[in-house]
Amino acid sequence: MQEVLTFIENKKQEFADLPLFEFMRDKSIDPRQRLSWAPYAAPFIMNFGEMNKYVFRDEPTSDPIQAIINKHSYEDDHHWLWFLEDFKQLGIDQSLKLSEALRFLWGEETEISRWLVYQLYKFTLQADSLQKLIVIEVIEATGNVMFSVAADIGKEIKAITQKEFLYFANFHLNVETGHTTGSPGIEEFIQEIQLTEKTRQEAFEIVEQVFDVFTKFTHELLVHAKKDKIGQALKVR
Ligand SMILES: [Fe+2]
Repeated sequence: MQEVLTFIENKKQEFADLPLFEFMRDKSIDPRQRLSWAPYAAPFIMNFGEMNKYVFRDEPTSDPIQAIINKHSYEDDHHWLWFLEDFKQLGIDQSLKLSEALRFLWGEETEISRWLVYQLYKFTLQADSLQKLIVIEVIEATGNVMFSVAADIGKEIKAITQKEFLYFANFHLNVETGHTTGSPGIEEFIQEIQLTEKTRQEAFEIVEQVFDVFTKFTHELLVHAKKDKIGQALKVR
């Protein structure tokens, strides 16, 4: 498995250079604008909690890999609460009619977010625990890139407004270590999982494909981040 983890690490370095993260690191742009993609990511961020509860988690289990996933799923199933809290700090927590909110969440503008969810289901529903673990490792790697950059923006905004962030903050980054976590010795255990030639090949393919779907997701978020003024997403529809 070590080989697969090294491959994920290399792909993670490439991922960190994507245009969305360049945009988010650009201090010449208003920091709130650099997070203006947030509402468009909502269907994915809200769904990720459920994915952990209902797709990744499978209890009870006697499979040690599934046991790792189960433990990890409890860490990752509630971060959406912090995301919603940060809407207040970003000044985008305005009132909407229920019909307007539903139209936004199921509309064309947030399609990429829902698409990402369906893709992740495709890789994990009915997958074995090893395949799920690989998908989770990739999600962790992409999340770690995203939250490292976003936490810095949160800090910049805090310096101006004195408002504390939870999701776009070190508070979140500290639990998004970039790896599947949960119990001591877990990294060593994962590294030492033995793969057959067939599962090794499949693992590499899954890693490629999951990075691809996250890459598409970032490209679409960047379009919104450049086009929209912060808060515009939820105005008059
Ligand atoms: Fe998270």
